[in-house]
Amino acid sequence: MKFFNIQTFGCQMNVHESEKIAGSLVEAGYQPTDSVADADVIVFNTCCIRDTAEKRIMGNIGAVKPLKKADRSKIVAVVGCMTQQDGMKEAIFKKFPFVDIILGTDRLDRIGDYVERVAMSNGKRPKIDDVHNIDTPEIIENTPIFRTSGTNAWVNIMYGCNNFCTYCIVPYVRGRERSRDPETVVGEVRGLIEEGYREITLLGQNVDSYGNDRQDGWNFAKLMRAIDGIDGKFRVRFMTSHPKDISEEVIDFMAESVHFCHNIHLPVQAGSNRVLQAMNRKYTREHYLYLIDRLRAAMPDVGITTDIMVGFPGETEEDFQDTLRLVEQVRFSNAFTFIYSPRNGTVAAKMEQIPYAVKKERIGRLITLQNSITKEISDRYVGTILEILVEDAPKPDLLCGRSDSGRLVNFPGSADRIGEFVRVRIDKSRSASLWGEIV
Ligand code: 5AD
Ligand code: SF4
Repeated sequence: MKFFNIQTFGCQMNVHESEKIAGSLVEAGYQPTDSVADADVIVFNTCCIRDTAEKRIMGNIGAVKPLKKADRSKIVAVVGCMTQQDGMKEAIFKKFPFVDIILGTDRLDRIGDYVERVAMSNGKRPKIDDVHNIDTPEIIENTPIFRTSGTNAWVNIMYGCNNFCTYCIVPYVRGRERSRDPETVVGEVRGLIEEGYREITLLGQNVDSYGNDRQDGWNFAKLMRAIDGIDGKFRVRFMTSHPKDISEEVIDFMAESVHFCHNIHLPVQAGSNRVLQAMNRKYTREHYLYLIDRLRAAMPDVGITTDIMVGFPGETEEDFQDTLRLVEQVRFSNAFTFIYSPRNGTVAAKMEQIPYAVKKERIGRLITLQNSITKEISDRYVGTILEILVEDAPKPDLLCGRSDSGRLVNFPGSADRIGEFVRVRIDKSRSASLWGEIV
C-alpha cells in the first residue's frame, strides 16, 4: 500500500481542489494518510493571498527535507496558487531541490500521472513542472473527486476572476472567469443529493458573475432556480458574492427558494468610499448598506458575514473610522479581518505603503469591535429553536452543525445522527458558537 498526504492552505476553493488532487492520486493507486512521515507522496496545495500564507508554506515545505533525506523515494509536489506567480517555480526548485513536481492551478487532475512518472523513473529523477499561462484554459470536466467533507459537498460553478481589485493576486494566478456548463453543474448537484449529501456549497471567486462568459442567457439567479428544483431535503450555500454584482433577483430568490440558506458572505473590504475606489471595488459604502437593508428586508433571519481589510495603501485614520462605523451599523454575524499584504505584480503593491505598526493597531481595534458584535448577535439566539444539520462529532457524545443562517451550534448526541436535520434549543452562547440541546 502506498500513501499520500496533502497539506491544504487557503480558501474553500483550495479545500475542494485538494479533493480533486486526492481523486487523481487515488486513481493512481495511492491511499490518503494524515501522517506526513508515513506518506510516499507529500503534496502542498498552496495559497498566496497574503505574505503570511506564503511564509508558512515555505516553512512547511522546508520541514520535509529531513524526511526526504531519510527516505529518498518520497515524492514531493507543490501545487496551486503560489506556483503561478512569476519566477516562483524557479525559486521553489532552487530553495527546495528535493521538490519533484510543481503544478499550477489548472491541471490538478494530472498529478496522479506525474507522480507515477516520477515513481517509475530509474536513474535520475525527472523534475516535472506544469505551470502555464492561465489566461484561456479550457474547463476540465469528469475528473475524479475524493470527497472528504462529510455532509457537505463543494461544487465549483466557475473558475477565475475578472475584477482585478488592486490588492488581489487571484486574477493573476487563476486567470479569467470561466463558468461551468449549467447542465453539468445541476447534474453534479443532483448526483450528490442522491448519494446522500445534505448540503451543497457552490464555489466561485465571484458567483454573481456566473454566466457572463457564456452566450446562452444563463446567470447565477437562473442557476439557483435550476438547482432549487431538485427534489430532496438538502441545503445550498454559495460563496463568494461581490457587492457590485449581486442582483436583486438573487436576493429575492434566496428568500423564496426551498433549498437556499438565508446566509451570505458579502465581503465589504472597507467602509470608506475613497479606499473602495482605490481598491477598484466598483461600489460605494452607500450601495453596500443598501444591499444589507435589502437582504434583511427579504430575509429577517439572514446571517451575513464579511471580509474586511485594514491598512490598504493611503488608508487614513478617518478612512479607518469609516470602516468601524460601517461595522457598527451593519452588525455582521462574523467578519474575517485581514492586514493588507502587498502582493507582487498587483497595482496596490506599487502604491505608498503605510507602516505595519499602524495596520496592526487598527486591526486590533476592529477585532475588538467585531468580537463584541459577534457576541451580541450570538446572545440573541439564546432561547430560540434552530434547525441544525448534524455535521460532525468533535468529541464522543458531542455533536455540532450549523443553522440555516450559518451559525455553529454544539449539542450532546451520538455520532449516528450525523447527516440528520435536528431541532436544537439554544441555551447559551459563547462568542461565535452556540450551545444547546436537541428537542
Ligand atoms: N492582503 C490582505 N488581505 C487580502 N485579501 C485579498 N487580498 C489580500 C491582500 N493582498 C483578503 C480579502 C478577500 C479575502 C479572501 O482575502 O479580504 O476577500
Ligand atoms: Fe480578488 Fe477582487 Fe477577484 Fe475577489 S473579486 S478574487 S478580491 S480580485
